[in-house]
Amino acid sequence: MSQDTDLTRRDLLKTAGAVAAVAAVIEGAPAIQKVKAANDQVQYGMIGTGSRGSYLLKHLKNIPTGRCMALCDLQQTALDHGVQTIGNNPKTYKDYRELLDRKDLDAVFVITPLYVHFPLTRDVLLSGHHVFCEKCLVFKPEEVHALRALSTDRPKQVMQTGLQRRYSHFYQMVKDMVDKGVLGNVHHIHAQWHRNMINKPSTLWTMKPGGPSNVYNWRLFRQFSGGLPAELTSHQVDIADWIFNSSPEFVMGLGSLDTLKDGRDVYDNIQLIYRYPGGQKLTYSAISTNQFLPFFNGARPEMGEVIMGTDGTIEITLGDDVHKPVAWWYREPPKTSTVAKATDKQQPFVAGATMIASGGANGPIPLMTGDLAIDGNDGFLDREVKYARRWLYSKGVMVQEEPRNPVDVELESFFRNCRDGGRPKANLEIGLADAVSVILSNQAMDEGRKVYFSEIEKIPVRA
Ligand SMILES: NC(=O)c1ccc[n+]([C@@H]2O[C@H](COP(=O)([O-])OP(=O)(O)OC[C@H]3O[C@@H](n4cnc5c(N)ncnc54)[C@H](O)[C@@H]3O)[C@@H](O)[C@H]2O)c1
Repeated sequence: MSQDTDLTRRDLLKTAGAVAAVAAVIEGAPAIQKVKAANDQVQYGMIGTGSRGSYLLKHLKNIPTGRCMALCDLQQTALDHGVQTIGNNPKTYKDYRELLDRKDLDAVFVITPLYVHFPLTRDVLLSGHHVFCEKCLVFKPEEVHALRALSTDRPKQVMQTGLQRRYSHFYQMVKDMVDKGVLGNVHHIHAQWHRNMINKPSTLWTMKPGGPSNVYNWRLFRQFSGGLPAELTSHQVDIADWIFNSSPEFVMGLGSLDTLKDGRDVYDNIQLIYRYPGGQKLTYSAISTNQFLPFFNGARPEMGEVIMGTDGTIEITLGDDVHKPVAWWYREPPKTSTVAKATDKQQPFVAGATMIASGGANGPIPLMTGDLAIDGNDGFLDREVKYARRWLYSKGVMVQEEPRNPVDVELESFFRNCRDGGRPKANLEIGLADAVSVILSNQAMDEGRKVYFSEIEKIPVRA
């Protein structure tokens, strides 16, 4: 019945409210530590210029509010690659303590393997700099308390972590749709990250000769790594925490090493169930084969989340540099007692400050960007082009993607907070909660039991 799939005025108003709220997100109270450069550029160094470090440098190169002054890596090849990527000839170091001794830095990026996140981030904070540390913020339970204590004592120093979905316009919009009740009672999220590591071997997940003592193999050994929960689940459990406004109450799971039996000791197949205090659940799957993603008509690979409420469902993925973020909204059939007015059905679109949603006849409703809002100043041709694009998106002929990479947004936001004060969206507590989920997910799988999140509190603060 087409009436079931048309947008009602109620849907439109709720969505418009959500949309307007996205533009009004405030990042918190300012805590200012003046930047050193006269031109207000944030002068930064980076420790760890491997795969992720170089990726961030590629993005940082085009962000004028920051200036790379120094790079540090234990490996010369990584260091050379970092220098080449950023292109402005920063000074290089093998020992990060020498980088931290520099007096001209405002901020330091810690983009190293997980097992050294805490000691390095601690030393960056102690040296008085703002810090951006990649996820997961910490590796061991005792580091949770220690980093909280350190960072809380230094409120003027920005502490941000690399959970870039928090900086995605589509994810922010979906969060607001949930908060405004557009999806009804949101009770369940399913998240998947299936990366085919056999047919598409990635340098990150392939065993190099030398086993645990090879610096490139850190991801594959529990001595250094949280495995798939740290590298993949961490992004998606953070989405569930955000949507449900809470950390989980407990986690249960099964982990096994089924396919990549090359000497590694991290699981390559993990199945997890998280229960939240309101009774909501996150079900989660990460395996190392079968990159097929059963969302978006199978058009996207690997990873995404399905957010389910009593009134509707949203499929969403962040994508990557090639595939940009996408979100599709499916409404549930209206209750039979609810009879909408005929005029409600004639409103196919809603325009907001930054986003609009467009309804197709039977299929999903793609979330769209604000440039497709019809403006009173639009000429006839502009309007026709916008209607045509909306129609093509709503029919699934074209897919509307988020125009900006959330990584650029997270980096710009970090510099803005360093310069003007302000609390990051992916702040200390969000990063710590995320790290706790990773630690306890591994514990649940290792011990084959239900692990309560309150257990993390039993571990004493390290002196
Ligand atoms: N946010 C995301 O989407 C995302 C994506 C990929 C990786 N990451 C995270 O980024 C971090 C780094 O991952 P990666 O893929 O770049 O790993 P990598 O192994 O490619 O690079 C890490 C680099 O750190 C260097 N290093 C290690 N210890 C050091 C020390 N004490 N001093 C100086 N340099 C040191 C290594 O030599 C290496 O070059 C990890 O925590 C990972 O989880 C985040």
